[in-house]
Amino acid sequence: MSEYILTLCYLIASVTFILGLKMLSNPLAARRGNLVAAFGMTIAIFGTIFLYEENGVKLGNYAWIFGGLLVGTVAGALSAKKVKMTAMPEMVSLFNGMGGACAALISAAEFYHIYEAHKATPEMAFADIISVGTYITIAAGAIIGTISYTGSIIAWGKLNGRVKDYSFKGQHIVNMIVLVLVILCAVWAYQSTIATIYLPFLLIGFFAFVYGALFVMPIGGADMPVVISLLNSFTGVAAACGGFLYNNKAMLTGGILVGAAGTLLTILMCKAMNRSLTNVLIGSFGGGNKNKAASGETKAQGNFKEISLADAAMVMAYANKVIIVPGYGLAVAQAQHICHELEKILNDKGVEVIYAIHPVAGRMPGHMNVLLAEADVSYEKLMEMEHANDEFKTTDVVLILGANDVVNPAAKNDPSSPIYGMPILEVEQAKTVIVNKRSMKPGYAGIENDLFFQPKTSMLFGDAKKVLQDLCAEVKNV
Ligand code: TAP
Repeated sequence: MSEYILTLCYLIASVTFILGLKMLSNPLAARRGNLVAAFGMTIAIFGTIFLYEENGVKLGNYAWIFGGLLVGTVAGALSAKKVKMTAMPEMVSLFNGMGGACAALISAAEFYHIYEAHKATPEMAFADIISVGTYITIAAGAIIGTISYTGSIIAWGKLNGRVKDYSFKGQHIVNMIVLVLVILCAVWAYQSTIATIYLPFLLIGFFAFVYGALFVMPIGGADMPVVISLLNSFTGVAAACGGFLYNNKAMLTGGILVGAAGTLLTILMCKAMNRSLTNVLIGSFGGGNKNKAASGETKAQGNFKEISLADAAMVMAYANKVIIVPGYGLAVAQAQHICHELEKILNDKGVEVIYAIHPVAGRMPGHMNVLLAEADVSYEKLMEMEHANDEFKTTDVVLILGANDVVNPAAKNDPSSPIYGMPILEVEQAKTVIVNKRSMKPGYAGIENDLFFQPKTSMLFGDAKKVLQDLCAEVKNV
């Protein structure tokens, strides 16, 4: 009987994962979607703890299980409460690494079970004990999980500045050699006897560990969101292997969903930046260019003009339509609330205000949507890039808040630019463009932005939060 109830628990969990994921695609339902999926996961966890049995024996070990649950819950809840929105990719990376480690440990435990069960016949080959299919599932879980673990930890270190980009000549060849060694050790382990299995198994773990680090080390720190999404899909695949192994439907569904969602997200991000995945993985785009920018190698583009707060307030207050373009700087300044305030003040003066959202503005998918939702900006006011590009022609003022690359016309006009081909917000079609940032420094791609030097553009320097506070006061007085 308990077996049927457990199957039902897994079914409920699988359905909630799918529903939750679907709800995540709509900002209004996203929070509930998360809760729905978490509810399903809770059912699956407690179902397993209390209902799972093998040969009539229940799991037991409750002190260890609940001790682990308690530590994990407290650590997870505290870090989720504390994390800043801009540090979210770091946290996702760290959690993803933990998922990879879990999947790898499941495979290691399975290796150990087989070893223990056949210790009495040390001359037996692994290949005689389990089928190729089962072995591939165990080995894939161990390899992919370990790669995902080290890769994610390095990515986490890079995002918080603890780990620097590192590459050496011929690294990609070394990486390939290490990957081949992983696969060779996996084949060796399958052919080994129970007496000799330990060495090849440990080597699988070692080389996969090294590969994960080598794979992520050379990638430009700013490309990490794409890599994290890719590693996320690896963890999903590794978890799905665990699901196959234990014939656990919830784990299988969860793993497949994470694997598929991670892969799709990776593809979408690359598409939005108009870059191939290979270019992200071996191109050192963000990192390399940033170094160049820091050393002042970017080319000068002429003169730019500044606008005073009073003038900017005047231009906006007398406009019919203002489009706000949020970017990474708005998130850094945590100026979303005061930005919403400015929107309301302009609305009171009869000005229509909308937000133009670029798909890769900020540092993670949906970053700007989440940021503005935090400040209760109405979702109807957020306009996707394609629609916004039609709107600019009829717009009086575009106010750019801490965005740079996503409005850089070089993406359209300069074939030699690293961002050439990336779809951008075509803000220069509006009558007036006001750009708020702190300096003339480049953005993530490390390249100059010709928009800042165009006659229609005026620079409004300063931290986004302070500038917006002052702008609100000025607009009120107009
Ligand atoms: P960026 O091009 O990075 O530009 C952000 C600008 O904000 C900087 O030029 C900076 O100039 C300014 N800034 C920083 N702090 C500020 C503050 N406190 N107040 C006002 N301004 C501030 O950002 P973007 O336009 O949002 O573009 C995102 C970039 O990230 C794209 O190149 C995209 O390809 C890349 N990327 C995005 C993702 C996702 S999924 N979103 C993933 C990977 C890569 P100052 O220093 O002069 O202030």
